[in-house]
Amino acid sequence: MMDFLNEQLESLKKAGLYRALKSLRGPQTATTIIDEKRVLQFSSNNYLGLADHPRLKAAAQEAINNYGSGSGASRLICGNLELNEKLEGKIAKLKKKENALLFNTGYMANIGIISTLMGEEDVIFSDEFNHASIIDGCMMSKAQTRVYPHKDMDALEDLLKESKQFKHRLIVTDGIFSMDGDIVSLPELVSLAKQYECMLMVDDAHATGVLGANGGGTGEHFSLEDKIDISMGTFGKALGGFGAFVAGSHMLREFLINRARTFIFTTGLPPAVIASGIAALELLEMEPEIRAKLWENVGFFKNGIKELGFDTLNSETQIIPVLVGDASLTMQMGEMLLKEGVFIQGIRPPAVAQGSSRLRITIMATHARGELEFALKALEKVGKSLGVI
Ligand SMILES: Cc1ncc(COP(=O)(O)O)c(C=O)c1O
Repeated sequence: MMDFLNEQLESLKKAGLYRALKSLRGPQTATTIIDEKRVLQFSSNNYLGLADHPRLKAAAQEAINNYGSGSGASRLICGNLELNEKLEGKIAKLKKKENALLFNTGYMANIGIISTLMGEEDVIFSDEFNHASIIDGCMMSKAQTRVYPHKDMDALEDLLKESKQFKHRLIVTDGIFSMDGDIVSLPELVSLAKQYECMLMVDDAHATGVLGANGGGTGEHFSLEDKIDISMGTFGKALGGFGAFVAGSHMLREFLINRARTFIFTTGLPPAVIASGIAALELLEMEPEIRAKLWENVGFFKNGIKELGFDTLNSETQIIPVLVGDASLTMQMGEMLLKEGVFIQGIRPPAVAQGSSRLRITIMATHARGELEFALKALEKVGKSLGVI
């Protein structure tokens, strides 16, 4: 009765789109162990190296000692440990907002926020490269969704002009685009949102901790924090932990507590996770040099990879795509790099558009100069042997 699963798996294999899990050993550091082999890690979103930071580990251990391992229930039942509000206060400060609300994952935050705020009489404008969780949030909202070509402000304006009949309007975008590493055109979006009376939501999953003088994200980078109505971010990437948040007005928080199903019907985050989030935000403030090191590494690596002649699209950040095009060739390149001792994950449809498969390189503050050079040499060797450069 379930043979259709096998048929579908076989067709994925034929198309070069089959996915299998890789098992890693040890913490998320600049090197990792895959299949008993130590390799350089260039696929992790642990951009600042905090996932293995002694302060985060100590904070998590202390929270387990004080509060135990689980939160026991959803926050509205009895799982609202005081740590939640402490972390929410710190997020609000970083994002320069009145308040914040934790969600268990970025995926749950996006589907919860978007599907709760927007309904049948509303319209959402969404960049075509937005993350899958935004796309799913739009689908679940029952609102009309208008997808505009990536960062194409003229096309967006054309769509906005046709939106008078809707009750509420929302523009939603990634801050740093997760597969391309470019930054949203926030000033232009802000002025369009004002002109056409739209709410503006930014998903700063990849920008929080990375962009802006204090790691506040895209809003801080452009000094436009106050123009973002709904500022979403995650702890699983630069902040080295797990979980997510939305920062905005007190009213937004209150509304989501009362209506967002992905907040209401789920167990609160475990104490160790919340405590590591608090430690991460403290560290952002105390050690800005970690962020400076990340940008130094990004600059060095980007020069090197461009000199080699790879197409890195419009990357401006620590996420550096290497465009290959064909899905199977991309995966072959990834496997060859792994043999050379460098782990770079290949990205294929549906995560990116057909014909735009790529290697997604991520730079961390904890990469040593020699490790960056080693990866560049491996990329040169493999890229040349496959005719990619
Ligand atoms: C832009 C973006 N938004 C949201 C998410 C989801 O966050 P989480 O991993 O916390 O579910 C991700 C990645 O996972 C992402 O890249």
